[in-house]
Amino acid sequence: MTYRNDPYDPKQVALLDQATLDEAVSAAEKAFAAAADPDALTAARPAHLGDRAPVSLARREIGALPPAARADAGRRVNAARAAIQAAYDARLAELREAQAQRVLAEERVDVTLPWDRRPRGARHPLTTLMERIGDLFVGMGYEVAEGPEVELEWYNFDALNIGPDHPARTMMDTFYVAAARVASGAANVAGAAGAGGESAAPASGLVLRTHTSPVQARTMLTRRPPIYVVCPGRVYRTDELDATHTPVFHQVEGLVVDRGITMAHLKGTLDHFARAMFGPQAATRWRPSYFPFTEPSAEFDLWFPEHREGARWVEWGGCGMVNPRVLVACGLDPQEYSGFAFGMGIERTLMVRHGISDMRDMVEGDVRFARAFGMGV
Ligand code: PHE
Repeated sequence: MTYRNDPYDPKQVALLDQATLDEAVSAAEKAFAAAADPDALTAARPAHLGDRAPVSLARREIGALPPAARADAGRRVNAARAAIQAAYDARLAELREAQAQRVLAEERVDVTLPWDRRPRGARHPLTTLMERIGDLFVGMGYEVAEGPEVELEWYNFDALNIGPDHPARTMMDTFYVAAARVASGAANVAGAAGAGGESAAPASGLVLRTHTSPVQARTMLTRRPPIYVVCPGRVYRTDELDATHTPVFHQVEGLVVDRGITMAHLKGTLDHFARAMFGPQAATRWRPSYFPFTEPSAEFDLWFPEHREGARWVEWGGCGMVNPRVLVACGLDPQEYSGFAFGMGIERTLMVRHGISDMRDMVEGDVRFARAFGMGV
């Protein structure tokens, strides 16, 4: 619809009437005030400032006025339009500010709230110590070997020169496993429920391994010399839990089989291990002892200058030259190869190193104990 060329008609220019313009302004103000958010305001805009809004239509009517009346009408239309635009801008600013305030309130973060409501766990010092020992030996060219915790008696005893009538069988307080109760396919279980499912091992019962030494036999049966392995792992004995005993504990076993290995190599290796773990002043000393699977055998003590009760010798583990009978049982020729083995308790190592006096602190699983070692995950 266009009015421009129409002759002046007071009815057609009704929109230019001041009262009508005032009404358009107040209608716009009302509509803008009613908009609750910037989107609603944008939606309300065309009706009051768009091409078909009253002020826009009024502007078009100016052309229909006699020239003398145009300037005045133009001023009034512009004033009305400016008033509507101002109302729009003011409301927009108001709504944006309100929205910003709402976001600040809703997304407010109280930085004074305690942040650690769900404390993270921590790696157990026994785990990190075992890894550290593994790393130390890997640095010397060893490999880490593992074996099952539910072990065939044959590996735990027979292959290690501990025959069925050997007194050492009763020396170690063994947990025997009723074969029928071993779920087939259970993780960490040797062979097929003790039925001699493993080619190298004759049929025998199952035990919870009493030491990590069966991994020696497993290693010698599956690898050819040169063998340089460490075997960290969990072992079991029928002890009551008290300050100095736990029925479940950890050992690390070392085994070397190569040409020309002597006890000097064993001594040097243990001394190096002691220094790397306990500082440059640490050393080992040996006492003659007996293990069926080593000959000669020794128990070794650690000289630890920083012991919590003052510098002293502390018992650390057992060691010796691999008994030729064990080499033979594992298919190695003792004329050609010799080897050494050692084993020590990880709990004991940790207790000595960190002045822990009660074994139970290590097994109770209280994360505060682990955290004290600065071993948060
Ligand atoms: N297996 C022995 C024990 O648990 C320790 C040992 C390991 C001794 C290797 C000699 C050689 O007591």
